[in-house]
Amino acid sequence: MTEPRQPSRKLHIKTYGCQMNVYDSARMADLLTPLGYATTETAEDADLVILNTCHIREKAAEKVYSDIGRLRPAREAKRDAGGRMLLAVAGCVAQAEGGEIKARAPEVDIILGPQTYHRLPEMVARASRQHAVVLDTDFPAEAKFDFLPETNVAPGVSAFLSIQEGCDKFCTFCVVPYTRGAEYSRPAGAIVAEARRLVELGAREITLLGQNVNAYRDGEYGLGRLIRSVAEIPGLARIRYTTSHPRDVDDELIEAHRDVEKLMPFLHLPVQSGSDKILDAMNRRHTADDYRRIVDRLRTARPDLALSSDFIAGFPGESDEDFDATMALVRDVAFAQAFSFKYSARPGTPATSMKNQVPDAVKAARLDALQGLLTAQQRAFNRAAVGRDMKVLFEKPGRHPGQLVGRSPYLQAVHADASDDFIGTVAPVRVTALGANSLAGEIVR
Ligand code: SAH
Ligand code: SF4
Ligand code: F3S
Repeated sequence: MTEPRQPSRKLHIKTYGCQMNVYDSARMADLLTPLGYATTETAEDADLVILNTCHIREKAAEKVYSDIGRLRPAREAKRDAGGRMLLAVAGCVAQAEGGEIKARAPEVDIILGPQTYHRLPEMVARASRQHAVVLDTDFPAEAKFDFLPETNVAPGVSAFLSIQEGCDKFCTFCVVPYTRGAEYSRPAGAIVAEARRLVELGAREITLLGQNVNAYRDGEYGLGRLIRSVAEIPGLARIRYTTSHPRDVDDELIEAHRDVEKLMPFLHLPVQSGSDKILDAMNRRHTADDYRRIVDRLRTARPDLALSSDFIAGFPGESDEDFDATMALVRDVAFAQAFSFKYSARPGTPATSMKNQVPDAVKAARLDALQGLLTAQQRAFNRAAVGRDMKVLFEKPGRHPGQLVGRSPYLQAVHADASDDFIGTVAPVRVTALGANSLAGEIVR
């Protein structure tokens, strides 16, 4: 019998951006395990650092350059001691501006895009031998998923599973179609097999991921049908999916919300704006009333459904009236939670060259007003939980001894006193108090 190879090298991955990057980071760690890499929490002692980057807004993209700078002393210390810390930039910034990274940060050893990370072991081997940068930001014909090893790393109670990637929607503000490429859906069989594997490794909740997850299609399988198949896996308690597009909410998906007990009644459905003029300029391909109708249908199918959304304030050409229409939509729908951003002009996207850009001060004021309303709605939603019983999936120890923290169906963090045996189980909790960022409660026995 051969002993498993002892990890001899340390890998640190820093993940920015969306959940798909979180999933990709986990898969990169899987890929590097056979090379003897084990993950470490700190960059300073790592032999390989991967920055898995996000290009969605300017601020997110710029962070990578300051992080590269911050790693300089540790890399020099390692070199002075006769070693080497390899530095890789992965993800959407690498895809969008690989050449610029090479020019601005020549010390980077590897630059790789989201569609080529299955070739990472080979890139690492090459970078170890040479001192010139290894750059691979192709959109290869082969699907990387076919080259990824089966995961061996325990995913924790709640796991992510990418089922679809890329986007063909081309919203005029967004870089994703350029950084992730065309829509691609993984075969349903491979997804169900990976879901089973995650459950074997201890996952009780799976979030199905895609940039446009409800555009998922594999022959007869749309997202609704896929959810039904995944729900049959014994031991799996909860299913979620993100991010979906209003245009791709079909009957099958709404029926899945009605019928599938394991599908959580919480849906992130970005709307971006409540003004039809702006939605059109964004190329969202739906109106504000289309969105209202979809929400009504979902709530009819699943009356306890709550919604989350994304908003952009200050898109080019947004007038006070357009912004008021967004506020009106927020009041009509009442969101449990939301993300909102100032419009950020992104290189290469159509909205960047639109004439009527909104001044930053106006964007900031609108974002402020919008966030005020959304925060009030979120607090009202959380307050309404107090006094109610909620099913909580316990994930890990809380801050205090004897306490665990888990998630409600609506992804609210819930603290309760319970023994460690409750980790990975769903238990009813009576919510007794509302904290700043979480709920507190007692297990109902
Ligand atoms: N695929 C998802 C979201 C992708 S990006 C969807 O279709 O909704 C996540 C969020 O970032 C978007 O919903 C949008 O609100 C925000 N975003 C994207 N590009 C942006 C930009 N240029 N400026 C500001 N916010 C942006
Ligand atoms: Fe970007 Fe629009 Fe595609 Fe979402 S649907 S990823 S916002 S282009
Ligand atoms: Fe960012 Fe790329 Fe995700 S741009 S939001 S990491 S798809």
